[in-house]
Amino acid sequence: MHDTTAAGPGSACPELFTWEFAADPYPAYAWLREHAPVRRTTLPSGVEAWLVTRYADAREALADPRLSKNPQHHSEAAHGKGKVGIPGERSANLMTHLLNIDPPDHTRLRRLVSKAFTPRTVARFAPRVQELTDQLIDGFAARGEADLIHEFAFPLPIYAICDLLGVPREDQDDFRDWAGMMIRHGGGPRGGVARSVKKMRAYLADLIHRKRESLAARETEDEDLISALIRASDHGEHLTENEAAAMAFILLFAGFETTVNLIGNGTYALLRNPEQRARLQAALAAGDEELLATGIEELLRYDGPVELATWRFATQGLTIGGQEIAVGDPVLVVLAAADRDPERFEAPDTLDLGRRDNQHLGYGHGIHYCLGAPLARLEGRTALATLLTRLPDIRLAADPDDLRWRGGLIMRGLRALPVEFTPE
Ligand code: HEM
Repeated sequence: MHDTTAAGPGSACPELFTWEFAADPYPAYAWLREHAPVRRTTLPSGVEAWLVTRYADAREALADPRLSKNPQHHSEAAHGKGKVGIPGERSANLMTHLLNIDPPDHTRLRRLVSKAFTPRTVARFAPRVQELTDQLIDGFAARGEADLIHEFAFPLPIYAICDLLGVPREDQDDFRDWAGMMIRHGGGPRGGVARSVKKMRAYLADLIHRKRESLAARETEDEDLISALIRASDHGEHLTENEAAAMAFILLFAGFETTVNLIGNGTYALLRNPEQRARLQAALAAGDEELLATGIEELLRYDGPVELATWRFATQGLTIGGQEIAVGDPVLVVLAAADRDPERFEAPDTLDLGRRDNQHLGYGHGIHYCLGAPLARLEGRTALATLLTRLPDIRLAADPDDLRWRGGLIMRGLRALPVEFTPE
């Protein structure tokens, strides 16, 4: 990796995108914030992009209409250099999803999906999330040890989102396998990932088709999200079948690995911060849920699932934090760096579950602000509260230095999280 911005005297930019960096990127981000807050960097894929690391610049960039989400604005797109999307996405015709488009299309699609995916949809789903959480813990509680990623953080979101979308239970293990392939090899062999994306796409297209037919044939309305997406209309406009498939796909894709990492990174942070964990357990035992609510937000700020926001491309020359950005240049907003900015957060490297002034960027900002935040919060709260209540002496069963982090560009998460506890 090399870069083109001159570093301050006597200090060199720490190496980015190495295994050490993946284990703890925060010192490198602190350096960038201080010395080169908007820095042109060559990514492991060979693509050059600007990394934006200060909170104020990050927040502004996330909401800047001159930064497009459409990869066609990438100056290298015309040369076929450096893929910036989900592997297999292009061939599978899933490009029309929210994270790849700008207004006015984004406004229209987001309005339609918001009619289907409401806070009420999520609230109604709470008992099912609790049931899934308990079933998964039942699977290992008697054993006294578990890998929390593999047995808990990974399956919970995939089953939850499948249920919510209306994927029949008997098909959900296929989804689990495809999602497993995507998360395991996200930055690796693209062929397998592309195949999984294609299978998922074909399955979703077929499911949407069947749901549309069954909606047309019956008087009663199905409650699932795919049916709601098909029914949703705005000024007489509906989603096309392709748009509905792309929407179901992005809900799965955006809602899956993120939530795995919220549960994984969140549990890990609690296990590494015993006073905070004890504080939360005491609150839960007293029936006080407030600390859980502020705590989930703090865990998102402190070590959130989305390390870098998804791609943005300059549609015109602009300046970010005093740095000129040329037309077509990709811009990556480093949420993990912005959320530890001492200019914005008091004692940013300290985990404080009761933190009040906490406008973190873990869910993004502006028109692409996370659509699934209410569901993510529900899953995060249920998972952590149930885990700490049912397995009160849960502890790490590995040396933190031996834990492996996934090396992907956008997401931050553990490969495995071995724990032990008194068997239930
Ligand atoms: C967008 C984070 C869970 C669906 C985003 C963005 C972030 C984010 C940072 C904005 C990306 C950008 O501007 O480049 C998270 C985190 C989650 C989570 C940290 C878990 C803790 C979910 C869930 C769903 C979901 C559960 C759905 C079921 C979406 C969608 C978008 C999005 C559809 C695109 C919105 C748009 O472009 O208008 N999320 N997300 N997310 N998220 Fe989430």
